Amino acid sequence: MTTQSPPANPEGRVFNARIEPSGHTFEAPASLPLLQAAEQAGLDGLRLDSSCRNGACRTCICLLTSGQVAYRIEWPGLSLDEKREGYILPCVAYPVSDVAIQLPF
Ligand code: FES
Repeated sequence: MTTQSPPANPEGRVFNARIEPSGHTFEAPASLPLLQAAEQAGLDGLRLDSSCRNGACRTCICLLTSGQVAYRIEWPGLSLDEKREGYILPCVAYPVSDVAIQLPF
């Protein structure tokens, strides 16, 4: 689980995303932040917390347990330690592989 720079032309790719511990899965296009892709999928009423949707408030913070994401903003509201531990902000995190995220509840 790492973060990296976005690939040159990722827009057409669609990855699989899984939410733990609920086991919900959804398609995660490379062109959408994970939060937006999850919302579009519906997820049987499972709602991911969010507020600012720009990587500042940390309401959406969760743990990336597998896969990789990329950010298009210079520095999302995560400390270096949090990034190293795998925490992501799905409102601004774009998948670059299949991913699994663990919600904080
Ligand atoms: S909703 Fe504010 S950081 Fe994601």
